[in-house]
Amino acid sequence: MATRNIVGNVPEPHELYGREGLIDHLWRQLHANNVLLMAPRRFGKTGVMRHVLQKPRDGYLPVYLDLEDIDSPSEFVWRLTRELLAQDVLRSVLSNARRLPKALRGWFADTFDEIEFDGAKVKFKEEVEEGWRETGGRLLVEMEKAAPTVIFVLDELPTMLDNIRRKGGDEEAREFLAWFRNVRLQQKDRLRRYRFILAGSTSIDAILRRLNSLDKLNDFERLYVEPISQNDAQRLASDLAASLDVAWSGELSERMAELIGPAVPYFIHLLFSQVAQSPAEQRRSLTEDQLSQVYNRRVLGPSCKHYFDHYRGRLRRYGPRGERAALAMLRAVAESEHARVPASELYDVYRKTRKKGACEQEFNELMADLECDWYLVLDVHTNEYAFMLPVMKDWWSRWYPMARLKKPKRSK
Ligand SMILES: Nc1ncnc2c1ncn2[C@@H]1O[C@H](COP(=O)(O)OP(=O)(O)OP(=O)(O)O)[C@@H](O)[C@H]1O
Ligand SMILES: [Mg+2]
Repeated sequence: MATRNIVGNVPEPHELYGREGLIDHLWRQLHANNVLLMAPRRFGKTGVMRHVLQKPRDGYLPVYLDLEDIDSPSEFVWRLTRELLAQDVLRSVLSNARRLPKALRGWFADTFDEIEFDGAKVKFKEEVEEGWRETGGRLLVEMEKAAPTVIFVLDELPTMLDNIRRKGGDEEAREFLAWFRNVRLQQKDRLRRYRFILAGSTSIDAILRRLNSLDKLNDFERLYVEPISQNDAQRLASDLAASLDVAWSGELSERMAELIGPAVPYFIHLLFSQVAQSPAEQRRSLTEDQLSQVYNRRVLGPSCKHYFDHYRGRLRRYGPRGERAALAMLRAVAESEHARVPASELYDVYRKTRKKGACEQEFNELMADLECDWYLVLDVHTNEYAFMLPVMKDWWSRWYPMARLKKPKRSK
C-alpha cells in the first residue's frame, strides 16, 4: 500500500514508523503503572495513543477521550459517560450497577437511548453540575468490575485544565485534579484496577505548577516520545518517495538529515508534502540541491508558514510581557553565532525585556515551557541553550530576524 503523506492528521497504526519499541514498553508499564506520554508538539503522541486504542493487547479495553475543547468538570463527566456507553461491555457493567448516584441512574433508565439526541447533553450537564465529583467518581469506580482492564486514554489533559482554569477559575481546576487523584488511588498509594494514559501538547508540569497542584502525577510512569532513529527515518522517507515517484537515494537521505536534524516524522512528512509539489520530471531525478531548495523556499517559506504559526501563537499564553521576553530569548538563540547561548546570557535578555517584573522562578518556568513548545534544549554540561531541531531555528530566523524587527526611526 502506498504510504500516505500526512502532515498533521493523526497517523493510523500501520502508518507509524519507529514506535514499536515504545509501544511494547508502554504495554509493559501498564501492568503496574499509569503512563504519561511526554513530548513536544507534533512528536507523535496521539499517533501512539491511537495505536493503543486500535490494537489493544489481550485483556485490555481502551477508551479514548480528546479533552481539548472541554472547559468544565461536568462536560468531562458527560463525555466520559458517552464514551463508556458507546462500548457494549461497559454499557452492560453500568446498566447493572447498583450504586450509581440517583441522577445518573434515573438518567440511564429514562434516557438511555437518547444519548445522541440534541438536548441530551444540556440536560445531563444540568443534572450533574453540582454532583459531578460523585457521579464521575462512581462511573470510574464501576469500571473496576469490567472483565477487561479499562484504559482511559486522555489526550490534551493540560489544555483541558487550562480551559477549566480560564472559565471557572484556578480553584475549579485544582478541585478537578484533587478528584482525579482520588479516583486513581484506592488507598493512599495503591492504584485501582483501571489505568490511565495521558498526553498533552503543552507541558503538564507547567500547568500543575501554575495551579500549585498537590497532585504531581507521581503514580504515572513518564515515557518519552522521541525522534525516530535515522534508519526508521530513511524507511519513512523512501516509502514516501516511492509513493511520489521520487528516485530516492542515500545521498538524499543524508541531505534530509542535515536539513531537518533529529528525525521528527512530522517534519519529514512536511518536507515531502512540498517535494510533492515540484514538477513530476524534477521529482523523478531529484538532486540534493533541489531538495535543499524545496526546504529553503517552500518549507521555510510562505507556503508552509501556517504549519508553524501555532508555535508562535502559543507564546501569547505568557501575557504581553512574558511573550515579549520569550520572543527576545528565542531570537537570541536563533541568531547567535553558534546557535547556542549560555543560560546566564539568556537570563540577561529576559531581565532586560521583562524589566521590573523579572524573577528567576518565572525565567525557569518560561524556559521549561520553551523547551517543550519550541524544542529548545539545555546542554547540562555547558549550561547552554540551543534549538533541538535546525528546522525550528531556521524558521525562526527566516520569519523573525533581529534586523527587520527593529523599530524604524521616526522622521522629525
Ligand atoms: N511514528 C510516526 N511515523 C510517521 N509519521 C508520524 C509518526 N508520528 C507522528 N507522525 C507525523 O506527525 C504528525 C503529528 O503526529 P501526532 O498528531 O501523533 O503528534 P502529537 O504529538 O500528538 O501532536 P500535537 O502535539 O499537535 O498533539 C502526523 O500527522 C504525522 O505526519
Ligand atoms: Mg496530539
